[in-house]
Amino acid sequence: MRTSIRRVLSLALCLVLLCSGFTFGTSALTADESWQHYYADYMQTGSGMYMAPGADESTRNFSWYAPENAGTGRVIVSENKDLSDACTFTGGSVRTPEGDVRTKVTVTQLQPGKTYYYRCENDVWQSGTASFHTLSGTDFSAMYTTDIHITTKEENDENSLVNQSYTFSRVLDAAADKAQLDLLISAGDQATTGSRREYTSLVSAPALSSIPFALCPGNHDRKGIAYKYFTNNPGEYKKAIVHSLISYDYAYTKGDVLFFVFDSNVASMTDHRNFVKDAIRKYPDAKWRVATFHHDLYGGRIPHRENENALLRTIWAPIIDEFRFDLVLLGHSHYYTMSNAIFRNKTAQDLTGQTSVTNPKGAIVMVSGSINHPRIREEGSEIPPLGENIAFSYLTNEPIYNILDFSEDSITIRSYALSEEDPFHTFTITKTDPQGGHPENGRTFYDFFVRFIADIFGVINEVWTTARFRLHWNDFVGK
Ligand SMILES: [Fe+2]
Ligand SMILES: [Fe+2]
Repeated sequence: MRTSIRRVLSLALCLVLLCSGFTFGTSALTADESWQHYYADYMQTGSGMYMAPGADESTRNFSWYAPENAGTGRVIVSENKDLSDACTFTGGSVRTPEGDVRTKVTVTQLQPGKTYYYRCENDVWQSGTASFHTLSGTDFSAMYTTDIHITTKEENDENSLVNQSYTFSRVLDAAADKAQLDLLISAGDQATTGSRREYTSLVSAPALSSIPFALCPGNHDRKGIAYKYFTNNPGEYKKAIVHSLISYDYAYTKGDVLFFVFDSNVASMTDHRNFVKDAIRKYPDAKWRVATFHHDLYGGRIPHRENENALLRTIWAPIIDEFRFDLVLLGHSHYYTMSNAIFRNKTAQDLTGQTSVTNPKGAIVMVSGSINHPRIREEGSEIPPLGENIAFSYLTNEPIYNILDFSEDSITIRSYALSEEDPFHTFTITKTDPQGGHPENGRTFYDFFVRFIADIFGVINEVWTTARFRLHWNDFVGK
């Protein structure tokens, strides 16, 4: 009994530590002159035009800033480069704390295997013409990365924004050299301070007008309120009793994959579980289930976070197991790691030294290092130990990105450091049927008990966060 009480107290203490932050050095490159000019012009328009995935391949979501009196926002979409024979889609807008609006439009009825040209506009502004394409089958490639941290410092540092947005643009270009990208996945901490200027900078790279970019809320993203206005996520689960001020869990499909994006700042596991059930009900036939959330689970390397990670493992593993996620894409630790196949928080199948697995007996959990703020070993210091369930790890001061090649039967992961042409790690997961090798999950009373405690904490934490937000409104919105 005493052990149970200690576990509960430790759980509560760890939950309090859940959202703690940290600072690091930078891996940002210095922007060249051409980027500096481009970036200055881009920021002058201030529109921050952003394309997110739609709920499925027949839709795309757009958002951008506009003056309050700019009229209805429109996205003009055509199969012709000159935008002839176009369809016009309109949407709503939300008033921002700065007094203008963020327009949010969903484009629908897209056909498979087409290239579409589009322009976003309102009565006083229009974007240039850009294009995107839709899949014709189940095969596609995505880039996965995390912890972009589009500024280096805790304040809005203009120089840092220029250099880091340039670095991210270089990462996108390098990734586009390796595959035709149909999706970009970020596992959170896109920003450092959570400011509007950061998110506007985040989408400054020209490549982002052609590839849908799926964002995820990290602990740094909720240091401000801008993420809430900036995003236009598909398939948001708005029935959640507890959610953060900036985000809802959301889901979307592409090819044969159902993607789940969780806000792991929120501990309410009943809501997260209901979200997954709801998404699976809508898309029951997806062969692959890929989850993204921000907080690392298994990586190790950071001793002072191990209590927090133990708690996170306790509350997230039952969901990962129950719904048989194939691949879980995380961030936060800024260390590259890939786990063994994991079931019930233990190695179910050792993948050390392997380059592939067929029908793995559990989920494979990755953390893609970071784009900015790499954790660097100090001269002469020892490298803290890896988590015991890690199959492969990699240390570098460079930005890291991964190409995920999805096909009907397999996912191949290729991981790169920015300056390298060859991947430092490749791994293929093959499944011969939708269940793969995942064991049947018998949920236990302990899982139910943990969920109950996590729900209570989730409510308390979000009430506290909301109160803090209201008390310090100007600090949150003034960034
Ligand atoms: Fe981070
Ligand atoms: Fe983080």
